[in-house]
Amino acid sequence: MASAFAPGKCILFGEHAVVFGHPAVAVAIEQGVSVRIERSDDWTLEGSPFNPSRHPHITHILRNVFNYSGPPLQIDVQSSLFSAAGMGSSAALSNAFAAALHEHVSPDESIDQITLAKMAHSAEANAQKGRASPTDTATSALGGCVVVSDYRVKGTKHLFDTSLETPEGSRSWAVNSAIIPPGIEESWLVIGYSGTGSPTGKMVANVARLISEKPERMEEMDRISKITMAGLTALSAANLEALGMAMDACHESLKNLEVSTPKLDRMVQAARPHSMGAKLTGAGGGGCMVALTKDPNRVSEAIEVAGGRPLTTRLGAEGVRSL
Ligand code: MEV
Repeated sequence: MASAFAPGKCILFGEHAVVFGHPAVAVAIEQGVSVRIERSDDWTLEGSPFNPSRHPHITHILRNVFNYSGPPLQIDVQSSLFSAAGMGSSAALSNAFAAALHEHVSPDESIDQITLAKMAHSAEANAQKGRASPTDTATSALGGCVVVSDYRVKGTKHLFDTSLETPEGSRSWAVNSAIIPPGIEESWLVIGYSGTGSPTGKMVANVARLISEKPERMEEMDRISKITMAGLTALSAANLEALGMAMDACHESLKNLEVSTPKLDRMVQAARPHSMGAKLTGAGGGGCMVALTKDPNRVSEAIEVAGGRPLTTRLGAEGVRSL
C-alpha cells in the first residue's frame, strides 16, 4: 500500500493574468487530497470500476508520465477541498496520485517536490487543453507561498523554470518561493464556496476570447500584474492592511475580465466589513472567494449568511508528502 497527501491552494493575486505570463502569488492551505494505492485484481477508483476517460489527471499520470503497465490498482481518494471550486483540487489530486504511484512502483527511491510539480503540471495542461499555468500544481507540490512569473521575481527564491505550448503560443514561467513572515500568523484566510463549480478550462478559454475580441482588455492584465507585485511586497513585509487592499483591487480587475459572478460579489461584500480584504480566488465563474481576516468566525458567519460555505485556514501549509 502506498499513500500521499497534497494540499490545496489559494491564489492571492494574479489568477488568469498568469496564463498570459504575468506574476501570480498563491499559498498552500491546510486542507487537501490524500490518495491510497493498492495492488488489486481489477482497476477501481473509490470502489467503482475505474473509467480512464472520466479521470484525465490520473490517466495522464499513469499512461504518459509513468508508462504504467503493471497489475490493476485499487485507488482511493479522500478530499477536504470543495471540488472543481478553484481550490486546486485537481492539482492536489495529481500531486498526491503521482507521489503515491511513485512510492508504489519504486518504494526504495525518493522523489523530490519539483519533479512532482512538473508531473502534475503536465497532467493539468493535458486536462485544460494546453492552457494551464504551473501555479496550482507548484503550490500544492512545494507548499508555503509560491510566486509564478515569466521572470525571476526580486525578493523570492528561484526554484525552477517550466514552459508549455498553448493555443495562444508558447509560454514559459519561473517558479519561485516567497517567505511568509511571522507577522502574517495574526491572520487567517476564510475561503467561501459559492456552491457551484468553477470550470477552469472554460473560464480560461472565455478570457482568451475576451482578449482577442477586445484587445484593450489586455490592460487589465497589466493592472493585475502591478497589484500582484504590490500585494507581494505587502505580504513580505507582513503589512496586512496593504495586503488586503491589494486583494480588494484584484477583485475589481477580475470583475472587469468578466470572471466574477453576482454570488461571488455578494460573498466578497459580506466578508469585507470584518476583513482586511476579499476577492474571488481561482478561475471564477462560480467556485470560491477568499477573505484575509483576524476574525475568522465573524467572516465565516457573514459568508454563510450570504449563502456560501466557509472554510478557514492559515496561509502556507506544507507541500505534497508521503503518508
Ligand atoms: C486557476 O486556479 C488559475 C487560473 O489562473 C488558471 C491557471 O493558472 O492555469 C485561472
